[in-house]
Amino acid sequence: MKKIFSFLLIGTMALGMTACSPSKPAAAAPAESAKTEAAAPEAAPAAAEELPLIGVTIYKYDDNFMSFVRQNIEKAAEGKAQLIMNDSQNDQAKQNDQVDAMIAKGVKALAINLVDPGAAPAIADKAKAAGIPVIFFNKEYPEGTDKVGYDSAWYVGTSSAEAGVIQGELMADAWKANASWDTNGDGKMQYVMLMGEPGHPDAEARTKESIATVEASGIGVQELAKQTGMWDAAKGKELMETWLAAHGEKIEMVVCNNDGMALGAVEALKAAGYFTGDKFMPVVGVDAIPEALDLISKGQMAGTVLNDADNQGRATIELAINAALGKDVLEGTSWVLDATRAVRVPYVAVTK
Ligand code: GAL
Ligand code: CA
Repeated sequence: MKKIFSFLLIGTMALGMTACSPSKPAAAAPAESAKTEAAAPEAAPAAAEELPLIGVTIYKYDDNFMSFVRQNIEKAAEGKAQLIMNDSQNDQAKQNDQVDAMIAKGVKALAINLVDPGAAPAIADKAKAAGIPVIFFNKEYPEGTDKVGYDSAWYVGTSSAEAGVIQGELMADAWKANASWDTNGDGKMQYVMLMGEPGHPDAEARTKESIATVEASGIGVQELAKQTGMWDAAKGKELMETWLAAHGEKIEMVVCNNDGMALGAVEALKAAGYFTGDKFMPVVGVDAIPEALDLISKGQMAGTVLNDADNQGRATIELAINAALGKDVLEGTSWVLDATRAVRVPYVAVTK
């Protein structure tokens, strides 16, 4: 009987996320919806038309983690800003049009979750021509936001490598605590890797740093397969099915750049008889979405890393409001900017 070592990295934010989002938000939504945020119940509430108008794009609404960032943006804007929300439907040309339309409507700041990280300079050019500030969030221009060619451009996200390092540490610790995971007994970890989208700094860094951290802990590794599942559960499931057919029980670890793909991989593993009797496979992800925390509690995922959607949403809107009002972007906040004009919200690792 294999010993199942269930690993749980959660934080207060994850619990908060679970508490305010009992069910997955609907994926399908209109491409654009104008939202008038209700004013806060204060003595003299600001009329909606006095609140700064901010134009927001999400690269696609149908992304597990981004649905939480979106909810937190809307929550953080309540009583402080009016938002125009756009689903860019994973289409950069569509997003460019949405940006043009929002500028035409007179937004005072843009908050942009790019479809293509390389499109940042083109969007910055549009904002610059219109004389409005832009806050990029979640997808970082790979060369750094200080290189997009516009001084009034900032970034809110994470330090991409950090999640990979934390994920690598949790894999290494769990591997060392569970000798039976080395099913062929060669002392090495035979793994498959589900990557996020190519060219996304988070995906590239998580892929590299997770494995580098395992190796640095003294564990040998062998990669059996590595491919992009585009952050997507259905694609993760499909790839896992292919890899189970090709490598079967040679696979000893499933490393996923995010929880969405991990959910898909677990589905494929279940269909192949895993997680019943003593048939087990360690699967690790990143994000700590509620569904992943649920799988961890059932022993069907070995671990995840909390990607703080709450603070990323809040920082994005706080910087955007300040920028819209012509203030210093950090005024009245506790965020700090690095040399590339980025706010980096930490990944939270709190053990059970
Ligand atoms: C990452 C997150 C992924 C996906 C991606 C989209 O930070 O971990 O699950 O949402 O952002 O850019
Ligand atoms: Ca092995």
